[in-house]
Amino acid sequence: MSEQRAVDRRGFFATLLMWGGVVLGYGLGALFFLKYLVPMGLKVRYREMYAGSLDDLEVGQSKKIRTPSGETFVMARTPDGVRVLSEICPHLGCRVHYEAEKKIFYCPCHGGVFNAEGTATAGPPYDAGQSLERLRTVIRGRAVYVLIKEA
Ligand code: FES
Repeated sequence: MSEQRAVDRRGFFATLLMWGGVVLGYGLGALFFLKYLVPMGLKVRYREMYAGSLDDLEVGQSKKIRTPSGETFVMARTPDGVRVLSEICPHLGCRVHYEAEKKIFYCPCHGGVFNAEGTATAGPPYDAGQSLERLRTVIRGRAVYVLIKEA
């Protein structure tokens, strides 16, 4: 009888150990798979790119800048600073320009209008809730830098 209990106890612990190993193994596998799907701890890193000097742009003027990846942006000197917005309209990809007298970024293709923050305020982009991508700027002295996401 006591020998039978010892065997049952051994069997119980063996089964417990086996299931513990199975749960641990599959649990770790699932954890690594989730970590693969959703990379945690990956910070978006930015680097500064020189975009020009404030001396090169009067208030109301704008110029085109190109990032190392080939994207083009409109850098506009606004009354309160500098704005750098994507030149490509999110509606159908036409080129946007800055209209200083209205203080807007305008897409001539279908009349898309964007404010200085890049938010659409009229036209098809407004109807679709689309915005222009905006690059953050850093101004040191008279030099303007834009922050570019590192790949
Ligand atoms: S492409 Fe700009 S509004 Fe249509």
